[in-house]
Amino acid sequence: MWLRYILAKGLPLLESNPEETWRNPAGNLSALPGEMAILGAAGRSRPDKLEDMLATAAKRIAPPKRLLYGPGPAMVEPRAYEAMNLPVLGIFDPYFLELLDEIRVGLRTVFGTRNSATFPIPAGGSGAMEASLATFLRPGSKIAIFAAGHFADRMTVMARRMAAEVVRFEKPWGQVFTADEAAPFIERERPDFVAFVQAETSTGAYQSGKAITPAARAIDALVIADCVTSLGAMPVSLDEVGIDVAFSCSQKGLSCPAGLSPVSVSPRAWERLRNRERDPATWYLDLELIAKYFDAPHVYHHTPSPPLYYAMHQALAAIEDEGLRNRWERHRLASERLIAGLVKLGFEPLVARPEDRIWHLTTVFPPPGVDPAALRQRLLQDHAIEIASGLGQLAGKILRIGAMGPLATTENVDLLLNALTASL
Ligand SMILES: Cc1ncc(COP(=O)(O)O)c(C=O)c1O
Repeated sequence: MWLRYILAKGLPLLESNPEETWRNPAGNLSALPGEMAILGAAGRSRPDKLEDMLATAAKRIAPPKRLLYGPGPAMVEPRAYEAMNLPVLGIFDPYFLELLDEIRVGLRTVFGTRNSATFPIPAGGSGAMEASLATFLRPGSKIAIFAAGHFADRMTVMARRMAAEVVRFEKPWGQVFTADEAAPFIERERPDFVAFVQAETSTGAYQSGKAITPAARAIDALVIADCVTSLGAMPVSLDEVGIDVAFSCSQKGLSCPAGLSPVSVSPRAWERLRNRERDPATWYLDLELIAKYFDAPHVYHHTPSPPLYYAMHQALAAIEDEGLRNRWERHRLASERLIAGLVKLGFEPLVARPEDRIWHLTTVFPPPGVDPAALRQRLLQDHAIEIASGLGQLAGKILRIGAMGPLATTENVDLLLNALTASL
């Protein structure tokens, strides 16, 4: 049926040899011959002749095995991988709806919240950022952004595109904000919203938010926090900190593939949504509409991808089995070991104070004379290890090294340190 439709449309790639497509080992038409060829040619020149493409159509893809010691995507929890093979279900299947409820319970635990409005949205971290801002901001809304890194800048760009009035408190990248700095700024600006990044992945700095939220709440501003990197590997503590709107991702501390991003909204923020006078310009990313799918009577909004939900369910189950606090502690200890080892090798941490560091993402200047790009290349080529470069103003200057999920162990930190030693 599908095939006939495509042939009727006369797509040249398939028309010339539909049999090849039909025998495609992926068993469906989502893996078109052209795509297979391009993937199969990783590291070689891209095929540009039709025969080259069709010759690879019968191949299974075989991504190289890598150890992902970057800021994300991180290694996927093995239980999550297995779960992604399970059959797809309909979007109102009672079994699937039950799983969604369980996922929401697990997410409340990792977020540290009782917010009933806690659910994953079909997007990456930037999509969740955009959903959180677009659902609440209106043209002319005033938002104060604490900015000391790339992702605070990304929020700034988004808010400006939404025609919000943005005021920024800037500090050098890698630093965090104190209550003595945050309070006078918020009192002076009196914004409708206050936003900050809890774990600034571009710098490796962690800011719980406790220095910012009391002043925001004192003027009744809603607090929006980027928890993309913190969730699942270190405390997020929404209720304790006083965060109203939090967004995250799946591919870092939760050890899932990317594609589903948890959000959580406090009752007082939700109340404002219900009483909104004007709908947001976004439809797909309107959190109030998305929530209607998760809550009974489960109104259709978008078609969810069950394998991603299965993965998230199993990743959360693995966290529950380990115990959230044990998992945090494992990441904290791995970070201590990693930093001590890196310093011994001559690396210098970007974030000066240990208490301001993200546990599972370490940012360092390389030892004098070491080219970060060449080091990354040697690690990848000789050890199949991926670490990341700097972003924005830190590009080419620092390295960003993650020890997340399955890699946050003594053994795996030592494996990385040994590979680094051999590659310097
Ligand atoms: C703090 C922070 N916010 C937002 C994002 C954007 O997430 P994504 O790349 O999934 O869109 C990232 C990604 O690294 C991040 O680290």
